[in-house]
Amino acid sequence: MNQPTPAAGLLSSGLIGYCRAGFEKELAGEIDDLAVEAGLLGFVRAEPNTGYAVFETFEPTPLGSFGAATDWRRPCFARQLLPWFARVDKLPERDRATPIVAAVKASGQRFSSVLLETPDTDEAKQRSGFCKRFTEPLSTALEKAGCLRSSRTGLPVLHVLFTDANTAWLMAGESGQCSTWPMGIPRLRMPSNAPSRSTMKLAEAFMILLEEGERDTILRAGQRAVDLGAAPGGWTWQLVGRGLRVTAIDNGPMRDTVMATEMVQHLKADGFTWRPQRPVDWMVCDMVEQPSRIASLMADWIGSGRCRYTIFNLKLPMKRRLEAVEQCRELIRKRLKSVGPYDLRIKHLYHDREEVTAFLTLRR
Ligand SMILES: C[S@@+](CC[C@H](N)C(=O)[O-])C[C@H]1O[C@@H](n2cnc3c(N)ncnc32)[C@H](O)[C@@H]1O
Repeated sequence: MNQPTPAAGLLSSGLIGYCRAGFEKELAGEIDDLAVEAGLLGFVRAEPNTGYAVFETFEPTPLGSFGAATDWRRPCFARQLLPWFARVDKLPERDRATPIVAAVKASGQRFSSVLLETPDTDEAKQRSGFCKRFTEPLSTALEKAGCLRSSRTGLPVLHVLFTDANTAWLMAGESGQCSTWPMGIPRLRMPSNAPSRSTMKLAEAFMILLEEGERDTILRAGQRAVDLGAAPGGWTWQLVGRGLRVTAIDNGPMRDTVMATEMVQHLKADGFTWRPQRPVDWMVCDMVEQPSRIASLMADWIGSGRCRYTIFNLKLPMKRRLEAVEQCRELIRKRLKSVGPYDLRIKHLYHDREEVTAFLTLRR
């Protein structure tokens, strides 16, 4: 973040990340690393199965000095990452708006719009109806107080996170720094006729791991792709749906609906040893294997020029998940260090459970 942003002067009390319930410890570890790197002094808090982790600075700090720590793309276990500036406790049930508006006003920051959210837990999601109902009255109250300027583009979005019915965290979502999806969860529809639900994972990966401009430029009809561990064909379905020709590698059977597209060649072969005769644009991989084996294979395909872009899953161990991800990063770094600079983006997607999904390409 080299340019001062519209909220650079906002005094922030730290960072909040949203995650899948059960991954708070991993997210807390990553946010702590970001804070240390940015020279922010404070402490991190995360309760198991709450769906979020908080870093709190010892002193309110201008947002402009958070540097790259506010970039939501960096922590792999964060679906969303936002700087927070107030926590409003003991909200009265009859009038939650007044104390929230007072806290926003006290910050001196103006916002373009307001988004009410809950963590992604079964318990918290029961408040999603309330969030919908409360959005309009709160927006009106904020507008009246001069805190919302919907006509002014470039202002941050005010995120209000209800961690319980009477506690709201107030956060500033700056364009380009945070996920644009409410709760950090892209709304995707299961395509009819798709062979498996895991088709959603690759659809989400394209949304989350590729930049907006890249989705049309590096992923195009007419390209060639390989799908390692393709059966029954959910990922292949996504590629074919975008007009790519796919070589599907798996000893298991592919669904008839996928093969009927006539865009797919199915080869019963071992994904670890099979190689294409000439380079392809894309290789995707969903083989269930040790993450270190997959990471090494992916780096080798990219490093040797067998494919230009790859998206792959890394299955996580039950314990020491963050270490497993770091080990994969290191394996890739070692393999590609003599090849050239590369982009590696890793995220725990909404459709991921005990795995993360990664995008890897050489920088050109
Ligand atoms: C999770 S499933 C893939 C699901 C697929 N992406 C989809 O969307 O339908 C994992 C697949 O990897 C395949 N697989 C595992 N090890 C493999 C290997 N060494 N070579 C090729 N396929 C392998 C399995 O047969 C299985 O079909």
